Amino acid sequence: MTNDDRENHPISILLQRWYSQNKRELPWRETFDPYKIWISEIILQQTRIDQGMDYYLRFIVQYPDVLSLAAASETDVLKLWQGLGYYSRARNLHAAAKQIEDRFMGKFPTSYDDILSLKGIGEYTAAAIASIAYNQPYAVVDGNVYRVLSRLFSIATPINSTEGKKIFAATAQSILDPRHAAAHNQALMDLGATVCTPKLTKCGVCPLQPVCLACERKEVEHFPVKTIKTTVKNRYFHYFHIINRGYIWIRERREKDIWKNLYEFPLIETDIPMDLAELQKTKAFRNLFSQVTNPVFSAPYQTIHKLSHRNIFASIYRVTLSGKQDELPCPNLKISENRLPEYPISQLIHKYLKTI
Ligand code: ADE
Ligand code: SF4
Repeated sequence: MTNDDRENHPISILLQRWYSQNKRELPWRETFDPYKIWISEIILQQTRIDQGMDYYLRFIVQYPDVLSLAAASETDVLKLWQGLGYYSRARNLHAAAKQIEDRFMGKFPTSYDDILSLKGIGEYTAAAIASIAYNQPYAVVDGNVYRVLSRLFSIATPINSTEGKKIFAATAQSILDPRHAAAHNQALMDLGATVCTPKLTKCGVCPLQPVCLACERKEVEHFPVKTIKTTVKNRYFHYFHIINRGYIWIRERREKDIWKNLYEFPLIETDIPMDLAELQKTKAFRNLFSQVTNPVFSAPYQTIHKLSHRNIFASIYRVTLSGKQDELPCPNLKISENRLPEYPISQLIHKYLKTI
């Protein structure tokens, strides 16, 4: 057994054999200049190769090295970036070039940690530059790599979970050929981009098919697994339990979101938290209490109602009225206090009523 065989994972051997025949010819693949590889990786982060190619070529002509980029004005760099989107990429490139000038005497750093310390460079980009420019043994993990690895090893841990990120980083590192990191990493990304694609996956021409678990189990389209991102939104409900000589007001909830067709107290909703003084300045408040004289507000009962994708912060004010003519606008309904049990109410209102 040779030293090479011992250290090289069989998957990497298959990958690199395939890559030597199938690699895509790209301008940044004809150089080991870390500066150019950096520019290409930043452009390709959020841009397709065919769209990013012209930008890369123009960028390299206008700013052929770190010092020319550092000497540019941010406006000129942004101008060159015009149309590519995600402009913080351009601002960070410019800022990082200045960092390299200041901290590394204008020479692109060679250690992974120094590269990672630059503005706009995360783990993926640092690993890409260290491996592609310097052939250092850092495995890259991008969207393509997540897909290929999840299928190869049938990994069902969500790729966007903390645990998933650890598992995939370790798996990527475990199959890396440490002496051919540049070829290995780019082979994996190319395979993901051209063969192991999200849809219409070409397992029939894949060099890894003999060792691929998902393909063997006919579960390719089950991978990669992602958790559904629920963005939790905060809503602020301000209820008014208004009492006037044995009468109260309620309203039927018609909104489709929650508690549809249940009854609740008159309500003002805001999308930021507000106390009574702030509420009193709102149009909704003035409208609700426009036909009322001298309302007396108690300190509110407060609670949080948590739903899968909503947090409802509720305040319920007990309001005492005394005017004989006091009225509330539609659709609020005046009922005798002791008839409230006849109406279906939300759990939130129920909880409040139990406290009084
Ligand atoms: N996508 C982003 N960078 C890449 C690279 N170096 N090779 C293949 N695909 C990529
Ligand atoms: Fe992807 Fe199919 Fe190759 Fe498995 S066999 S790595 S699923 S292309």
